[in-house]
Amino acid sequence: MVCLAGRQPSAYLKNMETAPLIDPFARPITYLRVSVTDRCDFRCTYCMAEHMQFLPKRDLLTLEELDRLSSAFIDLGVRKLRITGGEPLVRRDIMSFFRAVSRHLGAGLDELTLTTNGSQLGRFATELADIGVRRVNVSLDTLDADKFANITRWGRLEQVLEGIRAAKAAGLRVKINAVALKGFNEDELFTLLDWCAGEGHDLTFIEVMPMGDMGEEDRLDQYWPLSNLRARLAERLSLIDLAERTGGPARYVRVSETGQKIGFITPLTHNFCESCNRVRVTCTGELYMCLGQEDRADLRAPLRASPDDALLTQTIRDAIARKPKGHDFDYSRQNVAGQVSRHMSHTGG
Ligand code: GTP
Ligand code: 5AD
Ligand code: SF4
Repeated sequence: MVCLAGRQPSAYLKNMETAPLIDPFARPITYLRVSVTDRCDFRCTYCMAEHMQFLPKRDLLTLEELDRLSSAFIDLGVRKLRITGGEPLVRRDIMSFFRAVSRHLGAGLDELTLTTNGSQLGRFATELADIGVRRVNVSLDTLDADKFANITRWGRLEQVLEGIRAAKAAGLRVKINAVALKGFNEDELFTLLDWCAGEGHDLTFIEVMPMGDMGEEDRLDQYWPLSNLRARLAERLSLIDLAERTGGPARYVRVSETGQKIGFITPLTHNFCESCNRVRVTCTGELYMCLGQEDRADLRAPLRASPDDALLTQTIRDAIARKPKGHDFDYSRQNVAGQVSRHMSHTGG
């Protein structure tokens, strides 16, 4: 006779191992952002302090460990993997990591991509395209060389433009991410738009979020709500809302005059948390369930405790079970609420 009592628990456990990740608000978690380094060759003023204390190298996960972690998430239903930093392309030997995780493309993973400041694309664009990366998001807030040097403190605009040209030449689609900054790039709204249209790049604007220890007044001073930016665009252009989604938080419009696509990432003026599908892992193996909250789970200890993934998987599931509803960022009462103390470079945006 078959003993069902003996079989049920193991069948149940098997399901537990393979069941997809669903958070307490019924949101499936299908998008993982992995930060492979906290270092960067720039020091963008809204992202980092000028003299950052970086993590000691011994605290970082190895590339093999990052691969194992990413693979565990893919086994749990993650379909989109975005590599971030700091600047991901400054991590030594990072191409071997891209090459390794690319084995999941078409076998669980739909998209492997990265968010970069563009400075190293000249070196890596062709290899990334060979590996199976199809598009890259490049952070670029201004097309003015002096302003670029100011905001990035250490960056050179020409190097980034060269990187973007290399990406395009390698056949990668490029999306430009521009943080909307009052008094900084307001006057470049149409310059950025025209340049992207001419080059065939998509363009997304982002509202600046209160992360890191920048003074409250400075944050409020630089905040340019995208509702205002959009109204300015609409003075000259007809914008059609698109239903299309990339799996990220941006909402898109099409400019009917040019066919160009523009995205808006609006954590402040319109909260998109209800459709959140993503979590983040830092280069030390901390899992952040929300960009705008402090709660996190350590994945490095379970990863190192055993070559088997059971403990790791359980730790991931326990963490997803406490994913919060959303961030608490709020500037609406003329002060900054919901700030988190870590810098954006810690979790990679
Ligand atoms: P696509 O795949 O092109 O849609 O990219 P994406 O928007 O998912 O990724 P990208 O790295 O370009 O993200 C742009 C910025 O959006 C990030 O740097 C963050 O500042 C912001 N962002 C992404 N996800 C979240 C989120 O869950 N919450 C908040 N508040 N901001 C987010
Ligand atoms: N608010 C909004 N976006 C930010 N980024 C960095 N810091 C902030 C912030 N405080 C953006 C970068 C890049 C992405 C990874 O995050 O410009 O596009
Ligand atoms: Fe580096 Fe990106 Fe932060 Fe700028 S925003 S300092 S490029 S990690």
